[in-house]
Amino acid sequence: MEKHIYPIFDRMLQRHDRETLLGQRGIMLWFTGLSGSGKSTLAIALERELHNSGILCRILDGDNIRTGINNNLGFSEEDRIENIRRIAEVSKLFVDCGIVTIAAFISPTEQIRQMASDIIGKDDFMEIYVSTPIEVCEARDVKGLYKKARQGEIKNFTGISAPFEAPQAPYLSIDTSAHTLEESVNILKKAILPKIKDI
Ligand code: ADX
Repeated sequence: MEKHIYPIFDRMLQRHDRETLLGQRGIMLWFTGLSGSGKSTLAIALERELHNSGILCRILDGDNIRTGINNNLGFSEEDRIENIRRIAEVSKLFVDCGIVTIAAFISPTEQIRQMASDIIGKDDFMEIYVSTPIEVCEARDVKGLYKKARQGEIKNFTGISAPFEAPQAPYLSIDTSAHTLEESVNILKKAILPKIKDI
């Protein structure tokens, strides 16, 4: 224990107090998948659907995190680990507030996702693999990044010149090229609602 540090956890309200206030359980929905697989699109649509059902949610995704708290990080293996470590620590605070916390990051390796699960706690951590095939992600190329990666303009690009390890036992897998957005959201909602209401 650090000197001159006096923990006050015993006097603070507990997670259960906040969950009771909200009438929901805080959980972590951890989307993983290639760039362009549909993680953010799914996260946004799911958040809206849950919000409309009276559930408090918060999305964390690459655009709001990599331009803010993680604006000093790139895409080396080391930086990706630090990216996810910070995201997991922040997410843990949201989950502790009883919030349905939705992360949408490539999180490309088993090691990285295991670290996130360890930080957040495996009972709260639900891994959702957006399994859209790379050919589809590359054909979509929404941000034009696959083209640049193929031309060598972007180094360490996931799926092209950096690894992506598919999760071995995700809570749920969704291939966005096989379902409409509405179908995907319905599948997700059905799978997670019982967890959120289990307080
Ligand atoms: S992660 O690997 O550290 O989890 P994260 O989800 O935060 O990645 O960021 C991925 C997004 O950054 C991609 O969707 C893409 O828009 C952009 N990006 C820029 N460079 C790269 C790269 N080398 N590899 C993957 N994504 C990249």
